[in-house]
Amino acid sequence: MNKLNQLFSLLSLFLILRLSGEAEAGHHHHHHHHHHHHPKKLFVFGDSYADTGNIQKKISSSWKYPYGITFPGKPAGRFSDGRVLTDYIAKHLKVKSPIPYRMRKVMWNHLKYGMNFAFGGSGVFQTLFPVPNMTTQIDFFQQLIEERVYNALDLSKSVALVSAAGNDYAYYLATNGSAQGFPYFVSTVVKETIKNVVRIKGLGVQKIVISALQPLGCLPSVTAATWYEQCNETSNALVLLHNTLLNKAVKKLNEEARNPSTFLVLNLYDSFMWVLNHPSSHHISNNLKPCCVGVSNGFNCGDVDKNKVKMYRVCDEPQSSFFWDLVHPTQAGWHAVYNKLRTMNALQQIH
Ligand SMILES: *[C@@H]1O[C@H](CO)[C@@H](O)[C@H](O)[C@H]1NC(C)=O
Ligand SMILES: *[C@@H]1O[C@H](CO)[C@@H](O)[C@H](O)[C@H]1NC(C)=O
Ligand SMILES: *[C@@H]1O[C@H](CO)[C@@H](O)[C@H](O)[C@H]1NC(C)=O
Repeated sequence: MNKLNQLFSLLSLFLILRLSGEAEAGHHHHHHHHHHHHPKKLFVFGDSYADTGNIQKKISSSWKYPYGITFPGKPAGRFSDGRVLTDYIAKHLKVKSPIPYRMRKVMWNHLKYGMNFAFGGSGVFQTLFPVPNMTTQIDFFQQLIEERVYNALDLSKSVALVSAAGNDYAYYLATNGSAQGFPYFVSTVVKETIKNVVRIKGLGVQKIVISALQPLGCLPSVTAATWYEQCNETSNALVLLHNTLLNKAVKKLNEEARNPSTFLVLNLYDSFMWVLNHPSSHHISNNLKPCCVGVSNGFNCGDVDKNKVKMYRVCDEPQSSFFWDLVHPTQAGWHAVYNKLRTMNALQQIH
């Protein structure tokens, strides 16, 4: 049970939701772009590592200062000071980061770059957070295809990014938590993930990138117990079970598809670990200590008290920290992971 309690303590923080009651800003910017009539499109499904602004303002810390201070310069829904995984995969594909689904009506002229259906806090099953699960996210996508927003040609030239799993484990551990049941639950999460990616493929997307679980035992929510000095190997061992099953299942899918590169697992485990073990090669001086933390237990990055006094501390140089808050990398962290993935040749099949 200790293992599970430990995992729970970190997973429950996987997405920090806070009721804020803030009014929505309600204005949107229109941009005009003249290049690329038929650029490749990126479609994104998943959680807070991929969300670029779908999650509702009133339930998420990601819409509060100091989130977004590096990019776009103010809170915009990303769970970081700046860019997140989605933005770097888009960069790799040489397309603009796809617009969040909730912006599709106001940013209709950006539809051509694809769309981001990811919601922070989501999983393949129900989670602790009131956000659309992956099935529902794919339903949104399917509906747009039925409405002919995207046609078969668009889809055949597109890439899907799928980021999931952490929040499913948080829910399991909070509602059941049985250690004996855990391996079975991992297998159901992986099976459901596979069902989802097969469905995305069935809708016409030719290339599907699925992120492996990051080393949860290195997240500040866990390492806070050791003053951010070392990763918890016990928690990381649990992550490896998920990743092993995922890799096996994806290998089998590719064999069935008779194409070894239709489905691709993005190795966030090794890339995170490498950067955390070699931070200075990416000009990072804080590998485990987060940039933005609550002033005491019970407070998190972005929290303010009744009088709007901030109850968090933010570091002077987010570009020197790998982690932004207790669970999410900074832009510098994601950039370093992206560079590592490239040198691992993990992205060469994504095009
Ligand atoms: C790592 O986590 C386990 C339980 O998952 C816990 O028993 C152990 O004390 C943790 N180790 C450290 C160094 O915090
Ligand atoms: C996803 O959410 C929908 C709507 O809440 C629900 O009907 C469906 O059962 C969920 N799917 C899974 C796999 O949990
Ligand atoms: C919850 O835990 C019990 C064992 O305590 C297990 O038999 C059951 O299948 C679990 N339920 C789920 C939904 O995993």
